[in-house]
Amino acid sequence: MSTDAERVPSETALGDRLLTLTVGPPAAGGTFVARHEGRVVFVRGAAPGETVTARLLEDPQEKAEARFWRAEALDVLEAGVDRVPSVWEQAGVDGVGGAEWAHIALPAQRRIASEVMQELLRRAGVSSFPIEQVQVEPAPHDAEGLHWRTRVRYAVDAEGNVGMRGWRSHAVRPVGEDPLSAQSIRDLRLGEWTAPEGTEAIDAVAPSAGPASVVLIGRDLDPDSVEIPESWGDADVAVRTARELVALRGEGTVHERVGERMFVVGATGFWQSHRRAAELLTEVVETTLRAPRGGSAWDLYGGVGLFSAVAAVQVGRDGSVVSVEGNRRASHLAAENLEDLGQVSTATADVTDWVRARRGGVDVVVLDPPRSGAGAELMGLLAKAVRQRIVYVSCEPSTLARDLAVIEKKGWKVVDLRAFDLFPHTHHIESVAVLERAEG
Ligand SMILES: C[S@@+](CC[C@H](N)C(=O)[O-])C[C@H]1O[C@@H](n2cnc3c(N)ncnc32)[C@H](O)[C@@H]1O
Repeated sequence: MSTDAERVPSETALGDRLLTLTVGPPAAGGTFVARHEGRVVFVRGAAPGETVTARLLEDPQEKAEARFWRAEALDVLEAGVDRVPSVWEQAGVDGVGGAEWAHIALPAQRRIASEVMQELLRRAGVSSFPIEQVQVEPAPHDAEGLHWRTRVRYAVDAEGNVGMRGWRSHAVRPVGEDPLSAQSIRDLRLGEWTAPEGTEAIDAVAPSAGPASVVLIGRDLDPDSVEIPESWGDADVAVRTARELVALRGEGTVHERVGERMFVVGATGFWQSHRRAAELLTEVVETTLRAPRGGSAWDLYGGVGLFSAVAAVQVGRDGSVVSVEGNRRASHLAAENLEDLGQVSTATADVTDWVRARRGGVDVVVLDPPRSGAGAELMGLLAKAVRQRIVYVSCEPSTLARDLAVIEKKGWKVVDLRAFDLFPHTHHIESVAVLERAEG
């Protein structure tokens, strides 16, 4: 790859920590690869093919032997074809994090994410599925990739200013229009509010049913110090201290509707963030799980029961579904959410421990682990225990790729793999892999 860095006297460039770099293919974490004097530099805030002035994030003297450096694009000298005016002025270098591709055209973001995903699968050695077929698809009706975020954690500084943290700093920066957040979160205008002393963070939720929710988080925050501003309208409000959650308005929960079913979720508990995600992933699990009527299913990392509801309909009243979830509150809510489905039971446990302790197998499994993925031990256990199908829902393609490579070696094959842009303007990718026994 060519680099303009040679044109810059290297002593000066390194002394200033400024480099002129021509940026190439995407790498993990939303960065792009450039080279400076043969060394790889991962550049944030750039777009493919462009030449930028970048600030080095390491001390070149200290990191003289390092295999790679990291840098942030400060100025664009020659824009790439994918660059557009940022959808979020306050995001990016020296701004808020969490929208690191806001300056890249949405179709290009999806093309780049597809390249990243394919490369991760290739590197992990996934071999049973044609990797070039994996293309990141938009969520239905998401033309602009805006107003999709239904869960937002704001940071609060010592003066009570509400904003978000930067890419690599603890400074709380203003969020401005916050165009990725759902409208009912934007309407709260949290960025204009001064939080009471002791507030460390604020969780805002825009559920699909019922009012929005605001939870002020602070170890020693005094619930009596909170004056609810008018701009919060009828939003539910709670305070979470180190000891308890105190609901000031509402029950400390939110309501999410998927099709005909309503799910109650803890106000700070997990739910899929994109406003179309729960519906879309439900549809994908519905069409791929194929749990046999009267058969058995496990919903691992089950949260408040989203995919257990799908499995329960498929196995019917004579079948059985176990939702396994580590968070006590989520597991309890799953039991309540699905109490009309007698074929569902819940277990509050670490998934790997729970599966390790099972005697006998199961027909199908859906699993949806956190970013760290399922891991080799669990994949090995599932390879033995599952008779028919595994549907693996993932929010981190690197750990998905690693886990797929493990189970392929244990006699399973990937029969379908879809990827979705459920985090527009960021580098994150949601995906669903469907696995069957190779000999089957
Ligand atoms: C990505 S969420 C998926 C939740 C659910 N499937 C949904 O779509 O709403 C992952 C869930 O796994 C739970 N979890 C994380 N690590 C776990 C572990 N080791 N054992 C059991 N549950 C775990 C989290 O509490 C969280 O609810």
